[in-house]
Amino acid sequence: MRQDDGAEFISASLGRTQKGRVSLAHYYTEPSHTFAEYLLVPGYSSTECFPANVSLRTPLVKFHRDEEPALTMNIPMTSAIMQAVSNDTMAIALAKQGGISFIYGSQSIEAEAAMVSRVKNYKSGFVSSDSNISPDTTLGGVLELLAKTGHSTMAVTEDGSANGKLVGIVTSRDYRVSRMSLDTKVATFMTPFEKLIWADADETTLTQANDLIWERKLNMLPLIDKNQRLRYMVFRKDYTDNKENELELTDSNKSYIVGAGINTRDYSERVPALLAAGVDVLCIDSSEGFSEWQRLTIQHIREEYGDTVKVGAGNIVDGEGFRFLANAGADFIKVGIGGGSICITRETKGIGRGQATALIDVCAERDKYFKETGIYIPICSDGGIVYDYHMTLALAMGADFLMLGRYFSRFDESPTDRVMVNGTYYKEYWGEGSNRARNWQRYDLGGSKKLSFEEGVDSYVPYAGALKDNVETTLSKIRSTMCNCGALTLPEFREKAKLTLVSSTSIVEGGAHDVILRDKLGRD
Ligand code: IMP
Repeated sequence: MRQDDGAEFISASLGRTQKGRVSLAHYYTEPSHTFAEYLLVPGYSSTECFPANVSLRTPLVKFHRDEEPALTMNIPMTSAIMQAVSNDTMAIALAKQGGISFIYGSQSIEAEAAMVSRVKNYKSGFVSSDSNISPDTTLGGVLELLAKTGHSTMAVTEDGSANGKLVGIVTSRDYRVSRMSLDTKVATFMTPFEKLIWADADETTLTQANDLIWERKLNMLPLIDKNQRLRYMVFRKDYTDNKENELELTDSNKSYIVGAGINTRDYSERVPALLAAGVDVLCIDSSEGFSEWQRLTIQHIREEYGDTVKVGAGNIVDGEGFRFLANAGADFIKVGIGGGSICITRETKGIGRGQATALIDVCAERDKYFKETGIYIPICSDGGIVYDYHMTLALAMGADFLMLGRYFSRFDESPTDRVMVNGTYYKEYWGEGSNRARNWQRYDLGGSKKLSFEEGVDSYVPYAGALKDNVETTLSKIRSTMCNCGALTLPEFREKAKLTLVSSTSIVEGGAHDVILRDKLGRD
């Protein structure tokens, strides 16, 4: 694809090379395309091809052709290394479905390690309270918190903290908004501690907690320590949830698998802290991965820990970038520059490449590298996924897994506030290169130690509910399309996929067209 012909010629007006020859820029002969410009052409599907038979298992880190990968995922989804996306709550929710979150690195080393540690120490079914109030909180404050989090059960602790002394519980059954002043203090309408049924956090198993919930007809059981401090809550609604997660991703201790972002600046302190917290896999988070900084970071990790610590690198958008990171020792490689929904890198700096073209190019290089060396390096397609079918296309084009920001930011489990505008709920979502995130390490090319200009925006996305429900729907679409193409595994899908570019008119043909939708006419 790279066109070198005529790239060198003699000219007096342009800068001369040493030989008196002048190098012109390299031109790629093909335009770069994005996912929306492609479709899959179905292939033969046998009677064996039905969605329940499809496996979405995929490798996360490199492996030799004769060996099994050290880490795999049960679904090909990771959540983006972003403040607005990947905290411990997101990581737990995604691991329950079989994917992996990379906890954001644009926070202090201690705070990031604490998030990792909360994921690793999480006991399925035991929830750490994230909606806390104190006896002095007003009803107005309760309603505000409810709108933000959607959680109607709130623990009342003496100091309003997540692990403070438990003094009561508030649920929507404790107040009537139409009859009470918004200034009413929680202390006057909460169910006080003396009337609560609780259990000892150190001595209660999940089965015992669930039994108590059923016997005493509770919606939630608080678990407290010897000093009455709140440790966990166990919810009735999670009971079925805990039983249903067949694909959940755990290590040999039954703790959820979690990843974490690192940067190319403070790795000598950040990496050991994350490892001590129990992180399973690292990823260098950078807007541009074809750089000596990344090579040095990987080299440091190899010198300190050999191959035992797994680290992904990126982002790159062509075969040359892939080779660089492969030779540097990356365990997986991320593709994508400028395609993210909150990203303005292409507009600001004029760098990037259509995500589909970048992915196809890099996957071809990965396959070539595999033939040459016997080492398979998984490719992650990062950014620019808008519709579920874009995920299917990315997998067909060769991605082993996907990294998604906007997609996950819309769910209950993302760390951002939910806000209501004109009767509709939205969640906040901002780029790591925005002034809000101030993640200078992601964009630093050496020495500036601050964001000189923004490469991302601060925005809202439509709120979409629980992660589990959305992921299940998305995966059922992917499995269904794979069946249409006659594939039961991701490698088979890549092999069998037939992709076609579509014209702009045929994109119109692909949506509902030339009809008036019923709801537009105001009819049911
Ligand atoms: P999305 O899934 O389309 O929202 O893209 C998410 C991806 O965008 C992330 O995984 C990052 O690679 C990238 N990204 C995150 N923040 C920024 C930013 O501020 N500018 C440019 N790219 C960003």
